[in-house]
Amino acid sequence: MEISIINGSPKPGHSTSGYIIDLIVPRISEGNILEIYNISRGNLQEGQFVKIQNCDVLVLAFPLYVDSIPSHMLRFMAELEERGFASKNTMVYCIINNGFFEGKQNRIATMQVKNWCKRTGLVWGQAIGAGAGEMIPMLKDIPMGHGPNKSIFNVLECFSANIMGKKAGEDIYFSPDWPRWLWKIQASFCVWYPRARANKLTKRDLYAAGK
Ligand SMILES: Cc1cc2nc3c(=O)[nH]c(=O)nc-3n(C[C@H](O)[C@H](O)[C@H](O)COP(=O)(O)O)c2cc1C
Repeated sequence: MEISIINGSPKPGHSTSGYIIDLIVPRISEGNILEIYNISRGNLQEGQFVKIQNCDVLVLAFPLYVDSIPSHMLRFMAELEERGFASKNTMVYCIINNGFFEGKQNRIATMQVKNWCKRTGLVWGQAIGAGAGEMIPMLKDIPMGHGPNKSIFNVLECFSANIMGKKAGEDIYFSPDWPRWLWKIQASFCVWYPRARANKLTKRDLYAAGK
């Protein structure tokens, strides 16, 4: 099978979408041709679009922005819709990750992708929605299937098996096996406050932005 994987994170360096793609790739490589496209690095070339339009399986990986698909990803999907696909049997799978702890925050974005599939005439496969997305790459030194990496291991095994068999599956929303209250404190001090500082914002600015 030809599998096109879209990394829809706009981050120029490491992203959780990219990290999860790296976890999936060895599980779905055998006997398949995989191409990974990073749409944040500007428009894809014509040949790349043609490959995507001809793929058997399309995997869309992106972060959740304002409970939805990020606008640059949506623009890309609209372009794909306009161009069309060679076969109506292309199966679409989705990997969405979000900042809040609960993976079920990704349900609305999943519905949006399902609508896009219907409109584009493609076959829906499965979505996985990961909560506490910023935490996931921080767990890279913990063996898969253990401690906080228990759920993600089970989810990725099931998701990859469905892709390999080109089968549809139940959408799965999950979070790292970690106390929610602890992540809330860790996320503030290890992720959001330092990131605000790096962008010349104060802690107060962060809360003002939410008003
Ligand atoms: C503009 C913007 C909007 C966001 N909106 C949400 C949101 O509605 N809900 C949520 O849980 N996380 C939200 N986030 C957090 C991202 O989904 C989260 O940081 C994610 O892990 C980033 O994934 P990536 O590394 O693949 O880009 C938002 C982040 C940004 C920058």
